[in-house]
Amino acid sequence: MVKPFIAGNWKMNKTIREAVDFSNQLKNLIAGLDDRDVIIAPPFTALYPLAETLKGSNIHLSAQNLSDKAEGAFTGEVSARMLAGAGCAYVIIGHSERRTLYGEKDAVINAKIKIALASGLRPIFCIGETLDEREENRTFSVIERQIKEGLNNLITDDIRRLIVAYEPVWAIGTGKTATPEQAQEVHAYIRHLMENAYGKNIATDLPVIYGGSVNPKNIATLMAEPDIDGALVGGASLEIDSFIRIIKF
Ligand code: PGA
Repeated sequence: MVKPFIAGNWKMNKTIREAVDFSNQLKNLIAGLDDRDVIIAPPFTALYPLAETLKGSNIHLSAQNLSDKAEGAFTGEVSARMLAGAGCAYVIIGHSERRTLYGEKDAVINAKIKIALASGLRPIFCIGETLDEREENRTFSVIERQIKEGLNNLITDDIRRLIVAYEPVWAIGTGKTATPEQAQEVHAYIRHLMENAYGKNIATDLPVIYGGSVNPKNIATLMAEPDIDGALVGGASLEIDSFIRIIKF
């Protein structure tokens, strides 16, 4: 049984001040709630201020992206070591917006996962099929490819530090959630693939979280499924009320 893992992906929203105000409220509202992991993924600019705001709280920080390179002449990029130094514990890798809008391929995602792990960050590794792929009955083969290539050459100790987020692309920001049964089917498949590759214990302990139009109304039924261990929440994590209701589902 994995501890519920609820992460808010703020995407390109909130200034430092807005992020700090939100985090101060959140910190007070969930003080002492330690039977779940709560993570916020703010924009890069707010990471360090939030690390200060959230010191001593039960809320952890994630970045939304990182460079696949260690350091050097890569204008505009942010490295894994910088994120770790800013107080980040996690990093979202392979989000569908990165894959589709910024052309990130499985090989780059694999490099990012490796460099994140080498700096002590825990990757939140996102996978998921598009609507066309689902309609062409390719969901399972797409998931299998993303896992195989994204996790290429990782060792068992690396996998222990991973969180996998299943985010069907057609459900992200569309208000169209996968039904709990649709999500469960893919989550069970992900666990099955992970068991085949890395063994039963690793697969059982791996947090596999769902993302795509999660809201306060659908979180409980999603979380009731045996293979759904948490949620990666976009839009509904931007308002304190809805995020709190999701955290306390
Ligand atoms: P959404 O985004 O909850 O707004 O659909 C989820 C995500 O992209 O992680």
